[in-house]
Amino acid sequence: MFSHRTSWNRTTNRLSLAVTDRRQRGLDVVDLGESNPTRVGLSPAWRELGPLLDCPQAQFYAPEPFGLGSARQAVADYLGGRVPAEQVLLSASTSEAYAWILQILCNPGDVVLVPAPSYPLLEYLAALAAVELRTYPALWVGGEWHIDLASLTGAIDTRTRAVVVVSPNNPTGSVASPSEIEALQAICAERGLALAIDEVFAEWTGAQYGDPPATPATLAGLQGCLTLVMSGLSKVLLLPQLKLAWTAVSGPPALVDEALHRLEIVADTSLSLATPVQWALPQLLGRRTAWQAPLRRRLRENRAILDNLCSDTVVTALPAQGGWSAVLRVPATEADDERALRLLQQRGILLQPGYFFDFPGDGWLVLGLLQPPERFEPAVAALLGDAHTSL
Ligand SMILES: Cc1ncc(COP(=O)(O)O)c(C=O)c1O
Repeated sequence: MFSHRTSWNRTTNRLSLAVTDRRQRGLDVVDLGESNPTRVGLSPAWRELGPLLDCPQAQFYAPEPFGLGSARQAVADYLGGRVPAEQVLLSASTSEAYAWILQILCNPGDVVLVPAPSYPLLEYLAALAAVELRTYPALWVGGEWHIDLASLTGAIDTRTRAVVVVSPNNPTGSVASPSEIEALQAICAERGLALAIDEVFAEWTGAQYGDPPATPATLAGLQGCLTLVMSGLSKVLLLPQLKLAWTAVSGPPALVDEALHRLEIVADTSLSLATPVQWALPQLLGRRTAWQAPLRRRLRENRAILDNLCSDTVVTALPAQGGWSAVLRVPATEADDERALRLLQQRGILLQPGYFFDFPGDGWLVLGLLQPPERFEPAVAALLGDAHTSL
């Protein structure tokens, strides 16, 4: 009765089972993989947010496929005018934007290139669109991540429709360099591919996570090929619960035109945006500096704790250019998933094994930087203690 493409393996993995088991036994779990700002006291306070959502215009419904004009203009302004509002479309989430992009670009069986390591977001979206994902590697060379452009080019064939770039990447925090972006545009233009850029972490860069510039660093508005740049409120304003994201479309005018016409029909079939958040958007974006400040402080503090505790140990916290995570290089003396399970069962610390993000081989652990320092520091200390005793 059901489709092949939704016949997923739903077996709960050992790590999740062990988390449930610990919690049922009343034991603490410090979730260092936590990425939900609403669970760690980092989302804007409701007393500030609530009044902004209480707007009388929201009692009327305007079924606009790409969202209200005022909200699209607010995003265009936020992006520093690098694309006109007519080339900005709103969706409920970045994940939904990805789905729409796959739908307009790919026939069943077509291929999209995605980075590895990276966040495993597209697997299910691609399966639903009957699209095949093929990875291209990022390589850790000379203390930095570099996109392996030769492998990427080698992976392109007649079924390839798009290249996805995640910058800053999750979880490596690596930012695509200007020369990489230039090269990617040239490759896409030459091979007739679209470039889909996920910049949800664009606000969270810089070794020190300092105050954001007036205009965020964005790749919106590239002209070399059809480019679709996605981001949204879940990471920019720490408001995943509001469900609003955007895509800025740019490139050769005929391709932009065609993409927008197709996207408009896709968006019109679901009209997934709620109205209050759209009316509130200009004011919400206006609060960005203040609302980001608590997380900037926390990222600075936790990153310093991590670097300090890891110095002179067998564990290396790889330097990152951005994002909310840290990648640990640990001696590959056991499989990463075994180590993650053991750390949970013996120390009550939950972090993600590298294979979850498609890291090559063992010796990679990923932890998030969102937990309050008073929970983060003892957990990292216990993790490093474990690394010493288990070697
Ligand atoms: C790199 C990346 N892109 C997109 C998303 C999804 O964002 P959204 O909440 O807008 O769907 C995530 C979520 O963590 C992510 O890490």
